[in-house]
Amino acid sequence: MTQREQLIAWLGDAHAMEVGIVTTLEKHIADAEGLPKVRAALKKHLTETKKHATAVKQALKSLDAGHPVIREGVSKVVNAVAGIGTSLVKDTPVKNAIADFATEHFEIACYTSLAQTADAVGEKKIAATCRAILKEEQAMAKTLEAQFKDVNAFYLRSLDADEPKRATRASQPRSRTTSATARTKAPARAKPRTKKAPARRKSASRR
Ligand SMILES: [Fe+2]
Ligand SMILES: [Fe+2]
Repeated sequence: MTQREQLIAWLGDAHAMEVGIVTTLEKHIADAEGLPKVRAALKKHLTETKKHATAVKQALKSLDAGHPVIREGVSKVVNAVAGIGTSLVKDTPVKNAIADFATEHFEIACYTSLAQTADAVGEKKIAATCRAILKEEQAMAKTLEAQFKDVNAFYLRSLDADEPKRATRASQPRSRTTSATARTKAPARAKPRTKKAPARRKSASRR
């Protein structure tokens, strides 16, 4: 493999990564209900991410690499990072913030490496494109870092708001109706069946 071929392969990875991030950002924008600043930052970066995908695709075209190959490896890594433990519904905004922050740093690492590779191959224009993208990734990483405090506080407040409701429910006495119903529904105890002992025959000797 030549250095140029390696640059093409890594640009293909970057394209797959950006396409994957578009989907993740769209989901996280929908999840950010009640967090207008987070939602605005994600929307802004969604526009930038789409732009990144186009720029990388153009870079590939300039190298006569045709359509970028969707390379699953990097895409899978990004999706794994983006999907960190979001199965728990309530803490989704915090989990999304962690995943987005990690994703931006993954992108920072990729474009740092790509810019250096493009320099080495003598592709100055592609190196400049990578550095321009890199700046936007770094800016987004800073924004996300600054928003952690608000996102955490938002989630933690929701925990305190839930707690009194739960405590009230737990301290409520069982209503009469409920216990009466429970009594009615309780299965009656069946009397144990006893087998009648067979009547004793009078012994022949007594006759
Ligand atoms: Fe990006
Ligand atoms: Fe990004």
